Amino acid sequence: MLHVASLLTPETFRLIYLDPPFLTGREQIGTGAGMAYDDRWEGELDSYLPWLQQRLLAIFPLLCADGSLVLHLDYRTAHYARVMLDGIFGRRGFINEIIWHYTGGGRSKSRFSCKHDTLLWYSRGKTPVFNLDAVRVPYKPTSGYAKGGIVAASGRKYLPDPRGTPVDDVWDIPIINPMSHERVGYPTQKPLALLHRLISALSNPGDLIGDFCCGSGTTAIAAQKLGRRWLVCDVSEAAVSCVSNRLLKECDIALSPDLP
Ligand SMILES: C[S@@+](CC[C@H](N)C(=O)[O-])C[C@H]1O[C@@H](n2cnc3c(N)ncnc32)[C@H](O)[C@@H]1O
Repeated sequence: MLHVASLLTPETFRLIYLDPPFLTGREQIGTGAGMAYDDRWEGELDSYLPWLQQRLLAIFPLLCADGSLVLHLDYRTAHYARVMLDGIFGRRGFINEIIWHYTGGGRSKSRFSCKHDTLLWYSRGKTPVFNLDAVRVPYKPTSGYAKGGIVAASGRKYLPDPRGTPVDDVWDIPIINPMSHERVGYPTQKPLALLHRLISALSNPGDLIGDFCCGSGTTAIAAQKLGRRWLVCDVSEAAVSCVSNRLLKECDIALSPDLP
């Protein structure tokens, strides 16, 4: 990642999504051939945090003046990363902590089951792209407001928006379950719906989107389908070949065979 970042032109990315290893202490093994990555860190936080900080510092100058970074982590390190990002972007650079809540998988008997990830959204500038209307969600079926609106004490009537309600910072999006057609066998593959929402909201068509820990290539696929330009990379050859296969299958794009 550091090498790739050093080759790129500063201030060119509208949005960088980074989904690095989470410090799970495990080798993450998928179901596809060779699809695995090591998430064991000797010294744990003592080696992980400097690794992460070095990469965040390398990525920061690549964002355009009002560009956004979304860093995807979980309860293990999100709080450390938030302090780190405050230091890099300034505290005013913080915009949202998005909770991605999912169900499925096993349930703990000794504590509340951990069923969310944390996405930290920071911007380099004061006016990042934010297309609220592009990512509205349907009102809840039980919502009385959705059925008939409300009348305020002043007599003013508020009607529901036919496009749906603005999404808040807790996102219920299903994980890719073992039976899902989306599943490509790469460990910790993220759902296209998650990247679709982020890219639609935080960038415009034609913008350049980056992902420097791209894994199976979810960011590239979502960006391509949404008419954005993209640049992704990963340290794993299995990941690069997975992205290449997905692009062909899901977007009808054949990468040059000269690529590694
Ligand atoms: C959580 S996974 C990304 C999953 C991806 N978002 C997806 O939807 O498939 C983390 C990725 O970071 C990659 N990685 C680890 N260290 C890296 C490094 N130094 N540079 C680039 N990628 C790295 C791993 O190979 C792995 O594919």
